[in-house]
Amino acid sequence: MPAKPGGGHRKLPYTEPRTESAAFARRVILWQHRDGRHDLPWQGTRDPYPIWLSEIMLQQTQVRVVREYFPRFLARFPDVATLAAAPLDDVLALWAGLGYYARARNLHACARQVVDAHGGRFPKTAATLAELPGIGRSTAAAIAAFAYSERVPILDGNVKRILCRHFAIEGVPAGAVEKSLWTLAESLLPAAAGMARYTQGLMDLGATLCLRKPRCMSCPLSTSCLARKQGRAENLPTRRTARVKPCREAIFLLITDGENILLERRPPAGVWGGLRTLPEGREWLSRLGLEACVPQPLPPREHVFTHFRLAIRPLLCQVARMPASATESRLECMTFKAARKAGIPAPVARLLAEIRQTTNRGAPRQLILA
Ligand code: ADE
Repeated sequence: MPAKPGGGHRKLPYTEPRTESAAFARRVILWQHRDGRHDLPWQGTRDPYPIWLSEIMLQQTQVRVVREYFPRFLARFPDVATLAAAPLDDVLALWAGLGYYARARNLHACARQVVDAHGGRFPKTAATLAELPGIGRSTAAAIAAFAYSERVPILDGNVKRILCRHFAIEGVPAGAVEKSLWTLAESLLPAAAGMARYTQGLMDLGATLCLRKPRCMSCPLSTSCLARKQGRAENLPTRRTARVKPCREAIFLLITDGENILLERRPPAGVWGGLRTLPEGREWLSRLGLEACVPQPLPPREHVFTHFRLAIRPLLCQVARMPASATESRLECMTFKAARKAGIPAPVARLLAEIRQTTNRGAPRQLILA
């Protein structure tokens, strides 16, 4: 027997559909019950804390990755009060690798607001949840549907795809088209008792069947899907014309004595805000009195952000003794082990993993490229 989404009702309280929109919701709900996902680690609860946490993690990250991070995060921060009381650094360190770090900063700010302004309890409606940091309209609706069975629609990228196809809606799903999709999504909602399963069903459909290359043969909505009838499922939703992302260049310095590495703390806001990265730019070498060091170029690489591409040129600077950086408050000298545990973004973590130490004590320290 499939498990319950959100620990809700085992019996399906649906009889015959009375209208076309009731048929839509009913098909989604029945399909979720039989064929949807029931083993995700954030399912089977009505506690808004883990539901909120999972929804924030899932905003720009695949289920496969969140499956790994979510239990670790929950073990370290089992409730909203623990998360609110923790230093932001600890939150960023556990978030490291998930990307989109503004989410982690907002998560922390949100936890503090729930504690300070709501007595440690999450608000009970989607409208009030949406006033908290990092919770947009669709995320607020997902939390409210799962935790409280509130009748509010979600409209993330997957749901936009489902609706644009099913109702053959033209135009890039943004602006006015997005507004009409919200109205449509609202008109399709089932009764409150089915909200958790319906919401999960839409997410599951979008993630497993109504993909960019749709699997219409298995879709519970295929008989009423207009795009399928018109043979246009693959062409909807209308795609935005791809914009070429601008490219920025950065030199990353790996200043190391073989045991320690120099890291630079990013300012709190902006790209990789609050995280530790490698010092950027050759200027650091003279600032640190390392003019004599001959840096060794490592293979260049690229990291893609939402709005730009970063062309990274790493330079390995092997030094006999780490420079005294006390005067440079943004710099920190750390062992490789400590650096891996601190909040460092994925491309920096990969670079650190690429250079490893010889353990041959007594011999001159030497780094080997992995
Ligand atoms: N994507 C966003 N929210 C999700 C959820 N609760 N389950 C699976 N995928 C999701």
